[in-house]
Amino acid sequence: LSWSTDIHLNFLSGAEIGAFAQRVLGDEPDAIVVTGDIAEAPSLERHIVGLYRALGRPLYFVLGNHDFYHGDIEESRQVARTITANIPDVTWLPTAGVCPLTERTALVGVDGWGDGRLGDPAGTPVNLNDFRLIEDLLAPSRAQLVSRVRALGDAEAASLSGVLERACASHESIIVATHVPPFREACWHDGKVSNDEWLPWFTCAAVGEVLRAAAEAHPSHDFTVLCGHTHSGGVAQIVENLVVRTGGADYGAPGVADVIDVA
Ligand SMILES: [Fe+2]
Ligand SMILES: [Fe+2]
Repeated sequence: LSWSTDIHLNFLSGAEIGAFAQRVLGDEPDAIVVTGDIAEAPSLERHIVGLYRALGRPLYFVLGNHDFYHGDIEESRQVARTITANIPDVTWLPTAGVCPLTERTALVGVDGWGDGRLGDPAGTPVNLNDFRLIEDLLAPSRAQLVSRVRALGDAEAASLSGVLERACASHESIIVATHVPPFREACWHDGKVSNDEWLPWFTCAAVGEVLRAAAEAHPSHDFTVLCGHTHSGGVAQIVENLVVRTGGADYGAPGVADVIDVA
């Protein structure tokens, strides 16, 4: 399973996207997963379909915050649903439920959202472009913005909770793809954990709670989370059977975060 994150294809030429696809194919993966920030709303459909055509192998993905830029959340999610319905080998994970990779291992996913819970959401001077480029987040006050992103995080957590239970009933090893790091410890920035100014928008604490509860409820299962969003890589062992891998990324130079040998 080849894993890439934050590929931001809207910053690349067609030739550069082709070169990226060739780098991915060089590892001869059976399937590819992309953990969000694929493009922006107006170009999302073109880039997902184009990437799939260049790869010619099963492509799984979740959406990141940039995938909603210059649009709204439902619009981009509808694009993802339509592509999933029309192209059998392209799968937006939140709509797909449990995706078996092998007899032992299943892939599931939710987009995730920087849900304004960790760090200092009320006082941070950090304002993401999200708050002026995503229709749903054009909130008049910080308090309203925080309540909106918390509701978004809660919806992601509810969706993950259901699919994780189903995955645990049929598989021992679960790979969870999501865009936003679900724990403080996984919110890397230049080799360190992000500070309280960035944590509110760079962690999805609600999804983290669901993951921790699932890991504790299923001690004989193992859970690997793949995420991105911070563009800074690292590995965080949350509990014995739950590890979070955050993929690094550079704008304009997408790469392979890792190739995972799925048992
Ligand atoms: Fe990104
Ligand atoms: Fe992001």
